[in-house]
Amino acid sequence: MGRMDNKVVVVFGGARGIGLATVKEFLAEGAVVRSSDIREPAEDLGHENFTHTEVDATDESAVQSFVEQVLGEHGRIDVLFSNVGIHLGKPLPETTLAEFDHIFAVNVRTAFLAARAVLPHMIAAKAGSIVLTSSNGGMMGRPADPVYNATKHALVGLAKSLAVAHAHLGIRVNTVNPGAIDTDMLRSTLASPDEFEAKQHALTASTPAARVGEAWEVAKAVLFLASDESRFVNGAVLPVDGAKAAGAMPGNRYSLDFELGVR
Ligand SMILES: NC(=O)c1ccc[n+]([C@@H]2O[C@H](COP(=O)([O-])OP(=O)(O)OC[C@H]3O[C@@H](n4cnc5c(N)ncnc54)[C@H](O)[C@@H]3O)[C@@H](O)[C@H]2O)c1
Repeated sequence: MGRMDNKVVVVFGGARGIGLATVKEFLAEGAVVRSSDIREPAEDLGHENFTHTEVDATDESAVQSFVEQVLGEHGRIDVLFSNVGIHLGKPLPETTLAEFDHIFAVNVRTAFLAARAVLPHMIAAKAGSIVLTSSNGGMMGRPADPVYNATKHALVGLAKSLAVAHAHLGIRVNTVNPGAIDTDMLRSTLASPDEFEAKQHALTASTPAARVGEAWEVAKAVLFLASDESRFVNGAVLPVDGAKAAGAMPGNRYSLDFELGVR
């Protein structure tokens, strides 16, 4: 008996990193997973309950037709995991308007479009769980990353507002808020993969747990929020960050974060 038996799950941004790790958790727990991304999955999962579709989640009609396709094939969507995101890592004075618009499109418009596409069906079914991937940067200010952080705060506001609006209909909307997690995104904020290894000490210095997290550790939290085990958890903001968002660290740790331009 799996924790996600008979659930139909739609994932945006499922090809690698946290998205792919979560897809694997959903499949292991018995869900039917319809994943999408702008890229092919980093691994061949070869699972009978898994399909992957190329979808640019910023594209209104592509999102709508993907959701309608899933509904046409399965008759319902029980879970939406909206996980698409990109990083910026620039001080505000250096950020162009094009960069601002682009990151809001990828990090926020995608969640808006995905939620808008699935909500009418969840409302009709009077059931559903939506999980948005925010960040611990969606819970606190960080000096090196104001625009990325603003997108992640926007997702928290969206999730809470949707939760308040739809809780009486049996629909739950929560965010998962990762700290520094070892994925391609995190490594791409540094100059080279070697630099990641060399700078592990500095990357972990701003995390009370004194380490970077793994994608599966976030996936376990998403699984909880998606499954019926969290049925009275709604509008929640769940940090998976080794206590980074829990309180202020000594100044020298944050200054390292600033110096590196990482989360
Ligand atoms: N890794 C971290 O340290 C960290 C920390 C906090 C929050 N997050 C958030 O977690 C989420 C996943 O990040 P990750 O670290 O796994 O990064 P990642 O780059 O490995 O995964 C992001 C996925 O989004 C996809 N994507 C990008 N633009 C897209 C688009 N327009 N349409 C569809 N798919 C698109 C990418 O192809 C990729 O598969 C992101 O929202 C990110 O902001 C990550």
